Amino acid sequence: MRQPLVAGNWKMNGSSDSIRELVDGILSGLETKAEVLVFPPSVYVQQVRDLLSGSSVKFGVQNVSDQLSGAYTGEISPLMAKDLGCEYVLIGHSERRSLFGETDADVAAKFCALVDQGLVPVLCVGETLSERESGDTMKIVAHQINTVLRTAGPERLANFVIAYEPVWAIGTGLTATPEQAQEVHADIRALLAENDPSMADRTRVLYGGSMKADNAAELMSQPDVDGGLIGGASLIAADFKVICHAA
Ligand code: G3P
Repeated sequence: MRQPLVAGNWKMNGSSDSIRELVDGILSGLETKAEVLVFPPSVYVQQVRDLLSGSSVKFGVQNVSDQLSGAYTGEISPLMAKDLGCEYVLIGHSERRSLFGETDADVAAKFCALVDQGLVPVLCVGETLSERESGDTMKIVAHQINTVLRTAGPERLANFVIAYEPVWAIGTGLTATPEQAQEVHADIRALLAENDPSMADRTRVLYGGSMKADNAAELMSQPDVDGGLIGGASLIAADFKVICHAA
């Protein structure tokens, strides 16, 4: 059975003071059977690591380069994430794809670089509203996933996470219905099973896109929803804890 995973993507939000308050709030009275993970802005990862010390809550970075070192101003190396004690790294978020031009090939290269350093990729996939309205949801999602599977090869697919985030639900308050989420999650699991049934069984598929304290339980009760990747609600300790408890 897959342990639920609830991850908070803090995006480009926070300060050293607000982050200390947020982490203290999350740790205070956190009760969950889920694995809990937070993705702070990279400049605060060391502070968050130290604040989380002694707790079971894990941390990671929101993006990395596919290069390990060199003249890549502003970039973060997988080696740096590993050096800071990160276990998970978010890649392919729709904001990286839409705002910074990341392609499926770019994301696949990052996936390989992470796995080669012993880090666990959280691979974000999802369709835009126009792609859904055109009936292309699984065509888009399947291409995003298959590009990674083909590039990585079986030897790199032992341990990773997929986050299905319909772009039209991110930050909009327009959450996918549990039925919509389950349909795509089941299709993703079937796609993984075509490659390797054991990979399909062990790989957690999270839902992201306006998951909130009041809708998390129903979304995560779906058989193929293994947790959540939370944006806005992860910046509110009380709400994030409700979601963790619901997992
Ligand atoms: O990565 C999670 C994020 O994209 C979801 O954001 O604010 O809709 O929960 P939000």
